[in-house]
Amino acid sequence: MTAARSSPRVAIILAAGKGTRMRSARSKVLHSAGGRPLLRWVIDAARDAGCETIVVIVGHQAEDVRAAFAGEADLVWVEQKEQRGTGHALLQAEHAVPWEATLLVLSGDVPLLRPETLVSLAIDASEAWGAMAVAELPEPGGLGRVIGASTLERIVEHADASPTERAIRRVNAGIYALPAAEIFGYLHALRPDNAKGELYLTDALGAAARGGKTVRLLDLADVSEAWGVNDRRDLAAVHLRLLGRHAEQLMADGVTLLDPAQTAIESTVRVGADTIIHSGVTLLGSTTVGERVVLHHGAWVRDSVLADDTVVHPYSVLDGASLAPGAEVGPFARLRPGAVLEERAKVGNFVEVKKSRLGRGAKAGHLAYLGDADVGAHANNGAGVITCNYDGEAKHRTEIGEGAFVGSDTMLVAPVRVGDGATTAAGSTITQDVPPGALGVGRARQRTIEGWAERRSRRPAKPARESEEPAPPAPGSTRE
Ligand code: UD1
Ligand code: MG
Repeated sequence: MTAARSSPRVAIILAAGKGTRMRSARSKVLHSAGGRPLLRWVIDAARDAGCETIVVIVGHQAEDVRAAFAGEADLVWVEQKEQRGTGHALLQAEHAVPWEATLLVLSGDVPLLRPETLVSLAIDASEAWGAMAVAELPEPGGLGRVIGASTLERIVEHADASPTERAIRRVNAGIYALPAAEIFGYLHALRPDNAKGELYLTDALGAAARGGKTVRLLDLADVSEAWGVNDRRDLAAVHLRLLGRHAEQLMADGVTLLDPAQTAIESTVRVGADTIIHSGVTLLGSTTVGERVVLHHGAWVRDSVLADDTVVHPYSVLDGASLAPGAEVGPFARLRPGAVLEERAKVGNFVEVKKSRLGRGAKAGHLAYLGDADVGAHANNGAGVITCNYDGEAKHRTEIGEGAFVGSDTMLVAPVRVGDGATTAAGSTITQDVPPGALGVGRARQRTIEGWAERRSRRPAKPARESEEPAPPAPGSTRE
């Protein structure tokens, strides 16, 4: 029987295996590559290929896997209680799929496949009995070797292959389009007579081919689509390839990456045109970067919004921060969740900002901590300004008015307010509100002792090996 072209497209993702070679306490398909779990990539590819139903076969750590995708209505979960091989895994879906469907069978550990490939496979299958994706890999590793030219003869698993068969470089990508009406018959007939003692899905395809069914071989133009993750080396390769793909897409969209191989931009991150990204930059999570932004060496940014024309100088860390157009950060700045910089605000060297807003053009140039603060437009925070926001029990807010000048080394003991246009004297500990336009001074008055240096030079020299008694303290020393 040939599956009709209009038959419903149902994806079945095999994700129940133990993934023993990962040597991990976690399910293999939950390991992350390119910033997302392996299984997430496969589910999304199935969705993008237009699959109405996505059946996920789970077994090893089934609960954890389901929990990671909770609330996604198009997913149907089927349990494979004992992991007896890929053929046995697919059999578990027998009663979950309509007989007239074309099944797109995917492996939860093959995350680089593209939706277009799935669509091509479904079309190939509609013109034959079934279809599968293959690729010529320079290092086929432990993947199944494919025998056949344009249609399948059989697949030999690495563990069962002879030396001659192992020399074959054309591998099975583990992605198939198969007619639901007929594949289960072949799966029921499987026997575990192989090196692993498992029921191999690949043997069912070999049996169909022997029985005269045409399984088309679709050679992948981008062979990395066939990369499976069986161990940590595979995981690293897949991770880098996923980042590389996104980097290529960004460059095609007009983003400059000065050293793509030394840049890690997760696929979830959006970047606008004419943005320049230097080497050693990491952009993660839900980060959005606007146009004409410059990200200098060593910037690490997660879940942040960087509007157009912003600049992040070297070695700055931004996590949950938001920069309005023209804002500048760093070098060596740290913006923590809730840091908001409005237009052209600036945060410089060794400044930490948390849950604080800096209004338009406001500045904190050097060595400051702004936590739970609201800084008005064009206010200037000198070097060493600290909001003392925590009293040991609770956090309190600091308000700094528009155009205020907070002198260097001011301690702002929150809750406290510095009014619009007010000034605090350098070195002050401000514990009371400073009204608008006022000067707040909170420091000891300076004492000046004239001629002190000369008097000190006239002091008699210390006799050798005298008593342990210390010399009288010099004025200004900490012991005074
Ligand atoms: C399988 C193929 C191999 C192919 C490779 C592609 C078989 C016998 N071999 O080998 O030809 O080159 O994929 O990556 O199919 N799984 C279950 N239940 C099980 C066993 C496995 O759900 O009982 C799932 C795994 O979670 C995994 C997928 O099936 O997501 C593939 O299983 P894996 O053990 O990784 O097979 P490979 O040795 O990679
Ligand atoms: Mg595998």
